Amino acid sequence: MADIPEKPVLVTGAAGALGRVVARGLGALGWKLVLTDIAAFPDPLPAGSRFVRADLNDGVAMLRLAEGCGMILHFGGVSVERPFEEVLGPNIRGLYHIYEAARRERARVLFASSNHSIGFHARDEALDDDCQFLPDGYYGLSKAYGELMGRMYWFKHGVENVNVRIGSSFPAPVDARMLSTWLSYDDLVRLCVRATLAARVESCVIWGASANSRTYWRRDARDTLGWAPADSADPYAAQMAGKVTDNPVVERYQGGAYTGMDFTRTGGVPGRMFGGR
Ligand SMILES: NC(=O)c1ccc[n+]([C@@H]2O[C@H](COP(=O)([O-])OP(=O)(O)OC[C@H]3O[C@@H](n4cnc5c(N)ncnc54)[C@H](O)[C@@H]3O)[C@@H](O)[C@H]2O)c1
Repeated sequence: MADIPEKPVLVTGAAGALGRVVARGLGALGWKLVLTDIAAFPDPLPAGSRFVRADLNDGVAMLRLAEGCGMILHFGGVSVERPFEEVLGPNIRGLYHIYEAARRERARVLFASSNHSIGFHARDEALDDDCQFLPDGYYGLSKAYGELMGRMYWFKHGVENVNVRIGSSFPAPVDARMLSTWLSYDDLVRLCVRATLAARVESCVIWGASANSRTYWRRDARDTLGWAPADSADPYAAQMAGKVTDNPVVERYQGGAYTGMDFTRTGGVPGRMFGGR
């Protein structure tokens, strides 16, 4: 059995797709979890867990939920591209509430960031963890801001944080792009385990993808965490062949479909900034 953290672990977004996976996976390891979401938790509660319905916009509620916790696995918030005003509350103010709670509890944070914080890098670029943020929408912008918030709380307050730029975490890949970006549920749960138990993480970035040979991503802090993905999208290659769109913008950039949403730039003349993207 894996080690069990000394203190309870707070999981936000627990009623969401990944929150449920993480709650089930860590609950099965015997971890004591405090689960929260604005929506009702749809599954049977894992043994040793409790669920509290709360809004990330409610700072006092977040402080109370985090009391006594040593780790916050932050999966809650707007998880797709939405208008700015919808993203603002849960993803910016809500994240601030999470970091204030972590600061008070001297807890560590795992932030479910996204490939959409760097979505306008071209697919033929290999990226390291210190690449430029090139968000592909208001959602991706909130993830870039969230990573920067983590950096600020580390340097200013010593709050450790692991920023996981999740690619595509689904039961299995569903299109050709996911041969590069897929993160299996088992690899995600193991990543949460290592992010919680690693002796020291400071403020670091992890590319949240399985061991896909078609990856866009290289260096990150996985050795510090002691995490290595065990799964791979490679066996799905034949099934996914030809599962592409007819949109050249979508196919050009790492962020895929999100880059093409509300895309109004015209001309396409390569400029000098950002390597002529
Ligand atoms: N699934 C992926 O492939 C993927 C990829 C990149 C990043 N992520 C990130 O991982 C996290 C989880 O993703 P998911 O696929 O499970 O998304 P999801 O939408 O299924 O889950 C997000 C949860 O957050 C909750 N939530 C939204 N607003 C809230 C609020 N104001 N207060 C409290 N809870 C609120 C929702 O009710 C939902 O249950 C998200 O932060 C997402 O941005 C996921």
